[in-house]
Amino acid sequence: MKKQRRERLRPTLLMLIIPLVTSVLLVSAVLFSLEAQNKMIRNANRYITYKAEQLRDHMHSEWQILERLQLEKELEYTTAFQKSMQTYAYSLLRSETEDILVFDTNGTLLYRFGLELPSTEKLSYMSKRLTHPLTPGWYDGTLFQESRIGVVFSFQPLDWIVTVTEKRSQFFLSTFRIIRTQGIILLASLSLIILAVSLYVGYITRPAENLAKTIALISDTHNLSHRAKIENDDEIGLIAERFNNMISALQVSQEQIERTRQAEILSRNKAVQSEYETLYLVGKLADFRDAQTSEHQDRISNLARLFASLLGMNTVEQEVLFNSARLHDIGKVAIPDSILLKPGKLTPEEFRIIETHTTRGFELLHNSHSEYLKAGAIIANTHHERWDGTGYPGKIAGENIPLFGRIVSILDVFDALISARPYKEPWPVHKARLYIIEHSGTQFDPALIKIFDDNFAEFEKYLL
Ligand SMILES: [Fe+2]
Ligand SMILES: [Fe+2]
Repeated sequence: MKKQRRERLRPTLLMLIIPLVTSVLLVSAVLFSLEAQNKMIRNANRYITYKAEQLRDHMHSEWQILERLQLEKELEYTTAFQKSMQTYAYSLLRSETEDILVFDTNGTLLYRFGLELPSTEKLSYMSKRLTHPLTPGWYDGTLFQESRIGVVFSFQPLDWIVTVTEKRSQFFLSTFRIIRTQGIILLASLSLIILAVSLYVGYITRPAENLAKTIALISDTHNLSHRAKIENDDEIGLIAERFNNMISALQVSQEQIERTRQAEILSRNKAVQSEYETLYLVGKLADFRDAQTSEHQDRISNLARLFASLLGMNTVEQEVLFNSARLHDIGKVAIPDSILLKPGKLTPEEFRIIETHTTRGFELLHNSHSEYLKAGAIIANTHHERWDGTGYPGKIAGENIPLFGRIVSILDVFDALISARPYKEPWPVHKARLYIIEHSGTQFDPALIKIFDDNFAEFEKYLL
């Protein structure tokens, strides 16, 4: 039972969900942050407004008592009122950055209530009059070179303008802290999300990239031993596994094909080898009949191959000539010993019979399917033809004589001259060479004789 794969890739869905969740989180965080800021500002406003109202109510109630007792003009009592106000003002202050200022209608500072003594620099400002008038209500501006926020109210009985304010930076300090903390949290969350997305994208794409690399490697090197790495148990893993199975099957087929090919090469080599051996033996048959030596056939084969290479034939043609040249006298097997081995002079009739070794050789070989035997048939039939058309058996002339026949006729005569025979001594090589050259254009093809003469040093190497 094959294992069921349950894991599935859902990249599209996840790619949609991740940004969506991130956006919702971000928007929520921003909204929450704004709400928190507003709430804090409202609380701070309420707090400082409450202090201002308390102070104003206290001053009015105290003054009403003085008025009711008709003591508001008495210096003693107004001083007591101011003391009472001062005590109450101090009781309202909670931080060193809060203060309560009392101005007259000209903007001249009359009193300052604060938990911290003003610096010398600030004092010099405070000794001057305000440059702009203060209007009752919410205050958010610069007061004595300092950004402050709070409440301004007027105290009519004494024509006072009272400010209850806090340093602006202090007022928003908590809010700033919250914004900063939220910013850090948001930034960290974003970084984590980006990291998670990158890792996830890598998790999905890496196996696919590896698979693509393996495919490219196999296609470039044609080496089927490579396999894709199966990293995850998902669709890409499944594709990689199937791909590996396919490559394994291909590799098995390729190895089988290679084994068959090697076997074919081996059997073909064996066949070629047996063909060579057969040709060699057949060539030798003629030697036995003619009292010639097998060296004669070997030399003619070697010299013929050299001729073929000097004429620019390819190696296949060179091999054909090499293997077929030795068959030129195969027809002699059909000539009676009484004539072939006759020690004395031959009669014209006997000569005519001897000449039939050419046509007999042709008849013997020409129906064969072997390239070598077919070429051998042509050579057997034409190696006694002469360039001037006075040869035998066809009395054909010039280039009508097949090239292989023209080549072998030169080599056959040349080798016969330099070899010992029962009826003659071997000729010296230079004398044989001269004989051949002298018969250029009559017995032999002049173009071939020129090549033979020009490259004689090469031919001589095979005579040793
Ligand atoms: Fe011959
Ligand atoms: Fe011969």
